[in-house]
Amino acid sequence: MPSSTTTLSLTTSAPAGIKADALIVGVHASAEGPLLTHEPTPESPWQAITDAAALAGLTGRPGDVATLPGGDLVAADRLVLVGLGEVEKLTPERVRRAAGVAARAVAGLRTVATTLSAVDLTATAEGLLLGSYQFEAYKGARKAAVRTVRLVVPSAAKAAKDELQRAVVTAESVLLARDLVNTAPNDLFPASFAERARAAAETAGLKVQVLDEKALAKGGYGGILAVGSGSVRPPRLVRISYAPRGARTSVALVGKGITFDSGGISIKPGPGMPDMTSDMAGAAAVVATVIGAAALGLPIAVTATVPLAENLPSGSAYRPGDVITHYAPRGQQATTSHILNTDAEGRIVLADAIVRACEDGPDYLLETATLTGAQLVALGDRTMGVMGTDELRDRVAELARECGEDGWAMPLPEHLREGLDSYLADLQNISNNRYGGMLVAGHYLGHFVADGVQWAHLDVAGPAFNGGATYGYTTQGGTGVPVRTLLATLADLAAR
Ligand code: BES
Ligand code: MN
Ligand code: ZN
Repeated sequence: MPSSTTTLSLTTSAPAGIKADALIVGVHASAEGPLLTHEPTPESPWQAITDAAALAGLTGRPGDVATLPGGDLVAADRLVLVGLGEVEKLTPERVRRAAGVAARAVAGLRTVATTLSAVDLTATAEGLLLGSYQFEAYKGARKAAVRTVRLVVPSAAKAAKDELQRAVVTAESVLLARDLVNTAPNDLFPASFAERARAAAETAGLKVQVLDEKALAKGGYGGILAVGSGSVRPPRLVRISYAPRGARTSVALVGKGITFDSGGISIKPGPGMPDMTSDMAGAAAVVATVIGAAALGLPIAVTATVPLAENLPSGSAYRPGDVITHYAPRGQQATTSHILNTDAEGRIVLADAIVRACEDGPDYLLETATLTGAQLVALGDRTMGVMGTDELRDRVAELARECGEDGWAMPLPEHLREGLDSYLADLQNISNNRYGGMLVAGHYLGHFVADGVQWAHLDVAGPAFNGGATYGYTTQGGTGVPVRTLLATLADLAAR
């Protein structure tokens, strides 16, 4: 996993006395002007700081940040004030975003301290590490990330140390996913993705299996092979297993790994096509999640199954009109799909991967993909759509909101499934019904989930990639969504 260049530690020192390059303090917005997150006490200068914040024109709204000289106020050279919004509306996500904003305000500094951690330690640690992220493969660091941050907490006992450790592992898992998404498609193709996943997983002590195109043909993975057939860079299937001793629950993770989606013969229009470098964000997330689960030592067995292919048009590409046969375990009837649009490719590779994942007999299946433009139409670009079996779907959507990634449960209306009936094969890969494209795709995937497996499908077409400007702790490009939701779900299932 990429280890962040920022090191975090805990301190119980009085914040005003900490000698550092900067002290970051949260400020609430109120009718009476800015309000500090700490009550003034006789020995601390918080009232003077509040006055200074007001004079600097800081309102305390989310996104606000101002740097003042530490002067006589605090022992640190600079005082960085960052907005948290109204006290009554405070959430962990507001703290996380403020920490992200503050992290960039202190970029280039060496030693920093913050009291945001006294409000919420996990959110502060995650926000600092995610907000200071820069992808340096193609462009040098603009300003080095802050070197060390001391997190002020009421107690630095074991519970706080463990909480910090979990937050660091979570953030580093997100950063691994971001690195993979941000790697350009000429560098990240099925074979190179597989090798990077193998290296990261083996370093973490996990078992890895990679099927190349020959093994895929031998195994009958007709969906993955069809989608990958247009590219000179052949497809792969990667499997990564974490199996701690004594685990009673098993979870299958599946993530869409289209290293570039041109649409294939059903080619996409030019604008927006470069963003299809992110069409492997689901794959990146599940690879990062299984590694993160191991680093956290979660008492639950996890296997990630990752289909990787590049969807390109060429003389060898699969066509609209083709009928393909999906993977099926020995002795089990294989499903056939009539391809009506080669741009609905994610579901085709996922179908093979879901069947393979279910062959292990997992209790739960968590599957994620940048699957449909319809997700963006339905929920916007920052809210994932969660479908699947009722209970797991609702729990995952709730956990997505709790961890700050934002998700919403979506239905799978029965009549929409009928649009996938084909006159020629078991299914067709797009519907005759123009509406509810995200839900139709969910239905298609649901066909391949084995009976008795609790299942959640996370469509992250919008949230996985930030095509706009940096905000909060969300940098440009890959966001790492839904790594935090998946880790939170694994922790939740492990605790049952
Ligand atoms: N990778 C795209 C979905 C996507 C769109 C992700 C925008 C991120 C941003 C997917 O493979 C796709 O092309 N889906 C089609 C499906 C359609 C042909 C049924 C779509 O959504 O248009
Ligand atoms: Mn597509
Ligand atoms: Zn796609």
